[in-house]
Amino acid sequence: MSVRHLYVHLPFCAHRCGYCDFVTATGRGDLHGAYVDALLRELGEEHDGTPVETIFLGGGTPTYTALPELLRLLRALPPASELTVEANPETVTPELARELRGAGVNRVSLGAQTFQPHLLEVLERRATPLDVECAFGHLRDAGFDNLSLDLIYGIPGQTPEQLAADLAHAIVLEPEHISAYELEAKPGTRFTVAHGAELERQAEQMEDYFERVVETLTVAGYRWYETANFCRDGKFAEHNLGYWLGRDYLGIGMGAVSTLGNERRRNTPKLARYLQGRYDREVELLDDETRARERVMLGLRLDEPLPLRGLRTALDPAGLARAEELGLAVEEGETLALTRQGRFLGGAVTAEILA
Ligand SMILES: C[S@@+](CC[C@H](N)C(=O)[O-])C[C@H]1O[C@@H](n2cnc3c(N)ncnc32)[C@H](O)[C@@H]1O
Ligand code: SF4
Repeated sequence: MSVRHLYVHLPFCAHRCGYCDFVTATGRGDLHGAYVDALLRELGEEHDGTPVETIFLGGGTPTYTALPELLRLLRALPPASELTVEANPETVTPELARELRGAGVNRVSLGAQTFQPHLLEVLERRATPLDVECAFGHLRDAGFDNLSLDLIYGIPGQTPEQLAADLAHAIVLEPEHISAYELEAKPGTRFTVAHGAELERQAEQMEDYFERVVETLTVAGYRWYETANFCRDGKFAEHNLGYWLGRDYLGIGMGAVSTLGNERRRNTPKLARYLQGRYDREVELLDDETRARERVMLGLRLDEPLPLRGLRTALDPAGLARAEELGLAVEEGETLALTRQGRFLGGAVTAEILA
């Protein structure tokens, strides 16, 4: 099957950070080779080897995977114009940076989250602020000219001054791309139990934090092109842009999701099953209406107006009129966009506009 975007899930991590609910497995160095075998088997079944536009190796911690196995995987992937690997700073050595570059990786997304040592501890992160700086240096030395940095704000106990310091620190490193996510506390996790009261106390500050993030990064020359994503010199996250534009993508690996035509499917999140080639796929059939609604929800996160052709049935004309009256959305010709104010309110405005 030919797709334009390929996601590959590498689940292994050195340890589990308290706030994370992604599909991960701790350690398991003994299984990295078998896992890559399983990935290559699934890739062979699902893709004909023709070039794709983007590939994203996400995790987990892809760069925690035993290096020979990671390189074996990279060399077996189809050609792609953008090949991104997610990395945790403490895993980036000069050797790893050189090997990734040599294997055709041309973009690295580095999970910094924060530069405040005590907040890194709250998140149970392993990397120190110095690790992030060193990782950046190693990647630049290896020739990477497209680096992205992930930040999280709304960490329990984080003050506005600490957020400002994180943003300043990120800007000084001059990444081409920055993702800044509001911390999502998953109900029932030990993190949420431990920090619930503080998270509740902080909740009403989050709109203000979001505005500070956007203000600071745009003043520093970054384009706020998606709700939580910022870039310089047109260096968008092309892979993610594929999702936001509602394109099909193939996801391989345990827990990986694919959207192919009117089908969304998710592989088993169980490592043992996946290694046996038993994908136990959960399949959801997407009707045109659902795809149109998703297209509106995702499309309105972008700063480019959304073409409305084929999407009218997903809109509530009265809700749209209200959003326009309040200065939150603008319909122009056959396109729709949120205003700056509308983008700050984000999902709430989209919910109003949707039928
Ligand atoms: C799943 S992680 C994988 C990358 C890498 N292992 C890491 O931890 O940096 C991808 C990104 O998702 C974001 N993320 C993960 N859990 C989150 C949460 N609960 N709330 C907000 N952002 C989160 C982080 O910014 C992280 O860099
Ligand atoms: S390293 Fe990343 S993927 Fe692994 S547990 Fe921590 S946040 Fe989750």
